[in-house]
Amino acid sequence: MAKFIVTGGLGFIGSHTTVELIDQGYEVVVVDDLSNSTIETLDRIESITGVKPIFEQFDLRDKSKVSELFKKHSDQQGVIHFAASKAVGESVEKPLLYYENNLNSLIYILQELSASENKNFIFSSSCTVYGEAEILPITEDAPVALAESPYGNTKQIGEEIIRDICKTSDEFNAIALRYFNPIGAHASGNLGELPLGIPQNLIPYITQTAIGLREKLLVFGNDYNTIDGTGVRDYIHVVDLAKAHIVALKRLIDNKNKSNYEIFNLGTGKGNSVLEVIQAFEKVSNVKLNYEITDRRSGDIESAYADTKKANEELGWKAEMSLEDALLHSWQWELNLRQNN
Ligand code: NAD
Ligand code: WQD
Repeated sequence: MAKFIVTGGLGFIGSHTTVELIDQGYEVVVVDDLSNSTIETLDRIESITGVKPIFEQFDLRDKSKVSELFKKHSDQQGVIHFAASKAVGESVEKPLLYYENNLNSLIYILQELSASENKNFIFSSSCTVYGEAEILPITEDAPVALAESPYGNTKQIGEEIIRDICKTSDEFNAIALRYFNPIGAHASGNLGELPLGIPQNLIPYITQTAIGLREKLLVFGNDYNTIDGTGVRDYIHVVDLAKAHIVALKRLIDNKNKSNYEIFNLGTGKGNSVLEVIQAFEKVSNVKLNYEITDRRSGDIESAYADTKKANEELGWKAEMSLEDALLHSWQWELNLRQNN
């Protein structure tokens, strides 16, 4: 049974990916320092899959611990690297924390991988690298824009580091996955996003407003050049996203990759405005949402949604769940969370 290391494996996307890996019969080593997740997520993974993954709790900025990890799990056949700090706003206030955390952890893992037998690597990247793309939908060939935040810059620099390593070593096999907007939760209602503090992202803010934790949702601007003036994004179900990681890993271990460094956009190919999301949420939850239109949020782009052709045809992966599915699952997760707290 192949063993994979999943860094950030107790986080939002990492935990859902760990569930899918276990469900497909793989052995998973989760690495997480719990800086943005809780240990209960390990139990949630076990309750869904019946399997408790190996858990290594440490900070990936500790180079010696990263080295110990790869010695202990020298039989690993691939790494999915989710671990990072990801709050755009916070990255503007604390750039050094973001550069240190997101780049040092990446570099230490890549150094160990370079000395390992298996050098298969999946990198969590983001559509944020495109900034405000000129042409929609956005293909992987769209130019990488000047980063709007230190966070976005760590993703761009991360991709460049991986690209340069793959240029020098053809034993290295890497895939960068550029996620659009991951949302939703596991259909069981027993796993989902756990934003600590006030949610920055739209969907957790919606569900927390609907359940009464927040007074109202502020809609950041309705004067964009979009269908109804509000921002448009490509919202992809986190389980669809998780499944794409398995497909990408298999591509590497089965040597199906066309080059030793590939990039794929992961989205649904469909853009929805904030007001469309609110409408869809009200429909699936039967809850009238309290919201108010306010000014734009600085740094926000107007519209982004993926051209999914390359992922569909090359990777052989396609998002299957709808916006409504994701919103319903997010709502069920919110209800479950609050009922048990
Ligand atoms: P998350 O914060 O839920 O998960 C990240 C996990 O990594 C957390 O459990 C955290 O405790 C852990 N972690 C962070 N730094 C660590 C360190 N130094 N050592 C060990 N563990 C550490 O985030 P997420 O939403 O699951 O995102 C996962 C990845 O996907 C990140 O790289 C993020 O940048 C990227 N991404 C996320 C989104 C999104 O909207 N959620 C979009 C595009 C890309
Ligand atoms: C979505 C839409 C907002 C909250 C961010 C990061 C990106 C990636 C995904 C890591 C926008 C509007 C939001 C609210 C609102 N993360 N909105 N009221 O900004 O597209 O992307 O998360 O890689 O890097 O930038 O996602 O969910 O914050 O916003 O009106 O309270 O909802 O203006 O149009 P975003 P988001």
